[in-house]
Amino acid sequence: MLKPVDLIIKNIGMLATPQGTGPKGGKEQGEVTKIKGAFVAIRGDQIAAVGEEEDLPQLPTHEGTVFHDAGGCLVTPGLVDPHTHLIFGGWRQRELSLKLKGVSYLDILDKGGGILSTVKHTRAASLEELVQKGAKALNTMLLHGTTCCEAKSGYGLNVEDELKTLRAIAQLNDTHLVDLVPTFMGAHAVPEEYRDRPAAFINLIKEEMIPRVAEEKLAEFNDVFCEDGVFAVEESRDILEAGKRYGLAAKVHADEITPLGGASLAAEVGAISAEHLIHATDEGIADMAAAGVIAILLPGTSLYLDTSFARARTMIEKGIPVALATDYNPGSCPTNSLQLIINLACIKYKMIPEEVLTAVTLNAAASIKRSAILGSLEVGKLADLVIWDAPDLDFIAYHFGVNLVKTVVKGGKIAVAKGVLVD
Ligand code: NIG
Ligand code: FE
Repeated sequence: MLKPVDLIIKNIGMLATPQGTGPKGGKEQGEVTKIKGAFVAIRGDQIAAVGEEEDLPQLPTHEGTVFHDAGGCLVTPGLVDPHTHLIFGGWRQRELSLKLKGVSYLDILDKGGGILSTVKHTRAASLEELVQKGAKALNTMLLHGTTCCEAKSGYGLNVEDELKTLRAIAQLNDTHLVDLVPTFMGAHAVPEEYRDRPAAFINLIKEEMIPRVAEEKLAEFNDVFCEDGVFAVEESRDILEAGKRYGLAAKVHADEITPLGGASLAAEVGAISAEHLIHATDEGIADMAAAGVIAILLPGTSLYLDTSFARARTMIEKGIPVALATDYNPGSCPTNSLQLIINLACIKYKMIPEEVLTAVTLNAAASIKRSAILGSLEVGKLADLVIWDAPDLDFIAYHFGVNLVKTVVKGGKIAVAKGVLVD
């Protein structure tokens, strides 16, 4: 017999959720359970029951059980953003006009702009400043339906400032409602002081940064920007293998700007995910499919860099589970709205709304090793859900450029109501 529940979301016009505890590839990515006239019952921070409204009277309640009316709207799992560069000092709005004049992303980086200018501002910021700025970004994300996000370091690029960044992420995970999953990304760029001796910087990453990060348990993953003029394939392999020896699972910024071979490297080192993949080759895609690497695609970055879009349909056809993320960062994608990403994925990747839902929930959770507890509305999973100002899934894929979130339930608590954060 079910124990009394604490919160019941009733009058759900349509509940849409993927199902399961692992990533979905191929045809399964588009298989989403839809229940018309549904309810979700929550006990503590977990889902206790999901079903059709006609079964509601049988649910055991107690005096304090709260009934929340979803107003006949769409309910989905809370969104999971599996690739963000959440913590950074300053912004880079001035680069926009350079870009408009035709200066390339890698040229801006080469002249000490780009990532390196953010490094200066991040080093100058205190831990408290980074935490405050991160909290503001997380508030925006929560208001737009994101209940869990991955956060990468990578704008410190020395031992002290990489640790400061990861400590900011840990502090935010303790204090903010949104759950954070930390990734170490010391190999995001070679900092100016190591410009002429990149091998020494790689040694610093392998011999000082990774051991400290692991010792202080500040990250679960190790990511490398495998890119022309940043870290070559051999260097990336070396850094990823070093991380694995310390228990950090590999992730790769792969084939973002040039087809360097990051997708195949991800497969070779057994990475959980390869991310970006705008220029992934047929061979890279085949290698990922064979090795079971999840693709994290970032259409906001293609839009903002005004470049081509990753071949999502090919990846889905090859059976690769596709996740979607914002890539929130001050240079190549200054947005933290997964809703925009949902719209872009439909229009530019030709993904159907059901595939997109799986990509921003279950597959996203799997790509950061959280799919056992997150990413679907099923008994026993964390009670993270969104009530949308929309009647069905098609509507959120179609109506773009505005925030359609009405209510967010995070860990069983109403965190956003009427589109506003609840204190
Ligand atoms: O994912 N590719 C590397 N990192 C970010 C960009 C970071 C930046 O420009 O500040 C990205 O696109
Ligand atoms: Fe990125």
